[in-house]
Amino acid sequence: MRRNMGDMDRAVRFTIGIVMMGIGFGAMDGGGAIAVGIIGAILFATSMIGWCPLYIPFRIRSKMGINITTLTENTANFGFLAEWGLSIFVQVDGANILFDTGLGISAVHNAHFLGVDLSSVDRIVLSHGHSDHTGGLREILRETGKVEVIAHPDVWKPKYAGSVDANRFIGIPFQREELESLGASFNLTSDAVWISDKIVTTGEIPMLTDYEEIDPILWVREDDHMVPDPLADDLALAIKTEEGLVVILGCGHRGVINTLIHARNLTQENRINTVIGGIHLFYASEERLVRTAADLKEMGIGRLGVSHCTGFHASAWLAQELGEMFFLNNAGTRVSL
Ligand SMILES: [Fe+2]
Ligand SMILES: [Fe+2]
Repeated sequence: MRRNMGDMDRAVRFTIGIVMMGIGFGAMDGGGAIAVGIIGAILFATSMIGWCPLYIPFRIRSKMGINITTLTENTANFGFLAEWGLSIFVQVDGANILFDTGLGISAVHNAHFLGVDLSSVDRIVLSHGHSDHTGGLREILRETGKVEVIAHPDVWKPKYAGSVDANRFIGIPFQREELESLGASFNLTSDAVWISDKIVTTGEIPMLTDYEEIDPILWVREDDHMVPDPLADDLALAIKTEEGLVVILGCGHRGVINTLIHARNLTQENRINTVIGGIHLFYASEERLVRTAADLKEMGIGRLGVSHCTGFHASAWLAQELGEMFFLNNAGTRVSL
């Protein structure tokens, strides 16, 4: 049974229920009094479980509704296109946010397949500048039209990858002017951006743990030479719900635990209900996997849906460690709260 009542609804019912029970079973006599008492008991009981059966036929819910639909991922459910990258469509209380855009055509294709209307997107949030999160921008902007794009200024840095030499360009594969001509209005900041009083982009994530590090094969070109990319642009989306935080990551380059610590500090909410997205552990040492799993358990997260650059080995490790809390989050996966 999923809760369909918000906290305010529950508090009002609880109070009225207690008063009616007091009147019906204590202060009054007769059949009417019993009816008042019974109604009070029903209000009290439904406030305790947070679920009202009367809401169901009328499709009412006083609880904040969240739908998280993954449009692009390295693997896909039946009928969806798979593509190396990530794009997640988030619907929260009337706000429609597209978190990342995938590498190319899959986000638009899969949105059409699902019947998701991308013209309803209010904002695009870019987790960082890598092409597997930004390469779908051109196709998506053709559907959204004019839209705010929230990101860190470093998304536009020339980013490269390579274990021997940094020879593969993996930055945004478009000119900014082209995207702006298609309707993108860039809001570039290293700070957190509150989209509503419950939804926030984390901004720059401090690296606090002593075991999470940036993948050493990622580079950025400065003048005429390559330097290790600090991925200062790496950010996540955090949503405050009545059951705790929902945190959505792109690649988690600055570390999933660093990201969750920062999300907690930013929102002043310690409970973490759901973590979804890429957590870039495919190259991680066993020590990092052990410590990551231990910290995820210690933080008491409710569930973890891994995607993309988490990698097969780390995903299998986390599945083993976290049991029922774990799920694979691929193209077509929908999570609702
Ligand atoms: Fe990625
Ligand atoms: Fe990345």
